[in-house]
Amino acid sequence: MKIAIAADHGGFPLKDPLKELITALGHEVLDLGAHRMEPTDDYPDYARYIGQAIQHGQAQRGIVICGSGVGACVAANKMKGVRASICHDTYSAAQGVQHDDLNVLCLGARIVGIALASELVTAFCNATFDTDERFVRRLEKVLAIEAHH
Ligand code: RB5
Repeated sequence: MKIAIAADHGGFPLKDPLKELITALGHEVLDLGAHRMEPTDDYPDYARYIGQAIQHGQAQRGIVICGSGVGACVAANKMKGVRASICHDTYSAAQGVQHDDLNVLCLGARIVGIALASELVTAFCNATFDTDERFVRRLEKVLAIEAHH
């Protein structure tokens, strides 16, 4: 699977190590920046790059990292077709995909270190959406909210 990753200055320290991990897990990485530490850059730009990659089918999943994960999550969820969540526990990182078809994982590099972030990304990447009727029904309701509100 192709996984897009992006980070602002708050998330930058985690981006390269997580790229290596994603590759080691057997996935292809699409790096949407920042390509160098830029203390004045803004997380909504990177959330938008990730959302656009999902919308245009350039990646099946995305990971966006900022300082807390909050801003990236708020911004990413403004985009149609994006289902983003901060997951700082592995249960949510996996179940978010399995039950909710989560397609963007948001991380806060000031909250989690590389060891936990690696476990979170592994759980997120290894999980697949469970097409049990109840999960599909709930996803359709979420998509209806997106379409009509
Ligand atoms: C940037 O300093 C910081 O505010 C940003 O990375 C993020 O934590 C926002 O939610």
